[in-house]
Amino acid sequence: MREKVIISKGMRTCSHGGIYSVNPRLVRLDCSSSINPLGTPRKAISAIKMNANSLAQKYPDPECRELKKSLSRYLGIDPEWISVGNGAIEVIYWFVCAAFVKGRVVIPAPTFCEYELASQKAGAEVTFVPLHNLELEAGQVIEKARGADAVFLCNPNNPTGILATKQIMKIIENVDSSTRILLDECFIELADNPDANTMIEQISEFDNLVILRSLTKSFGLAGLRVGYGVCNPTLAKKLSANKIPWNVNGLAQVAGVAALLERRRYLSKARALVKKERKFLHDSIGKLQSFRPLRSNSNYFLVHLQGRNSTQFRDKLLKKTGVLVRDCSTFTGMGTQYIRLAVKMHTENILLLKALEAFDHND
Ligand SMILES: Cc1ncc(COP(=O)(O)O)c(C=O)c1O
Repeated sequence: MREKVIISKGMRTCSHGGIYSVNPRLVRLDCSSSINPLGTPRKAISAIKMNANSLAQKYPDPECRELKKSLSRYLGIDPEWISVGNGAIEVIYWFVCAAFVKGRVVIPAPTFCEYELASQKAGAEVTFVPLHNLELEAGQVIEKARGADAVFLCNPNNPTGILATKQIMKIIENVDSSTRILLDECFIELADNPDANTMIEQISEFDNLVILRSLTKSFGLAGLRVGYGVCNPTLAKKLSANKIPWNVNGLAQVAGVAALLERRRYLSKARALVKKERKFLHDSIGKLQSFRPLRSNSNYFLVHLQGRNSTQFRDKLLKKTGVLVRDCSTFTGMGTQYIRLAVKMHTENILLLKALEAFDHND
């Protein structure tokens, strides 16, 4: 059997994109964070402005009742199945406690680094299952999951942007019910055909499954921080057992409710834009000599740098052009030659393209 060992970069501060990953004053265009290119929905901005004065001085609803009701309507799921966190990140850390992660967890690699970090902080050993040609291998994950406390899955995966729905369903159906599964769908609303790829409708069939979602990326609320987990009410109680009171601030709650009022029009417009602009970027970058763009189903994609080092490349590109890309060398198992690009509005994508062109055949 093909076996490749992946070395964790040890207990480390998990590295992310975003303007604070570098000197923020250098950034003219941030293509490192994969946020909805349309920006925050207009109704959410109005709600923030309208409520700023009254909500700034009030304690927020610690149970996020109105927001849960809106999410419940959106997902077609009872509110008791929904646990709202200060971003999806908070729910990942709750999951680690709720899944009694102490022994061993299974994580495909490369993927979002916080699963690894949260598990290591809880004292767990991490078994990485390398992707094969950046694709998820269900059989390997199922085999390694025997006796594990938890498995982490991400659909579409970050940083690849690839949907692996069939493989993920196979894993969820075959992993023992004593092993808890976190399925991260934080980018699914910006990926191709989310209805056919989400597991939300099947959530009631699996007592060990938590589906992770977020409004930070799909609704452009990264600064306000709203994420949520969906799972059966018994597990939901365990999931949020360590929740601090007032974990989601009042403005984030009203912005979330308002954003969800616009969901249909806003998300379908965003997906159509992402699909068109991803193809534009992919085709244009593919014509350059020193960059190889990789297939993706989402609002971001990987680019191979054909021999160049991704950290050095990010820094030089930023210094010369003000364009920030995600250096992927900090993803466990990714190597040092990939960057990740967020798909943005057409004018921004042209700026990104011009910046890359300036570095074609050029160090
Ligand atoms: C796959 C994935 N899941 C979860 C998160 C955390 O999302 P949030 O901003 O809602 O905390 C991120 C953030 O980059 C992510 O990439």
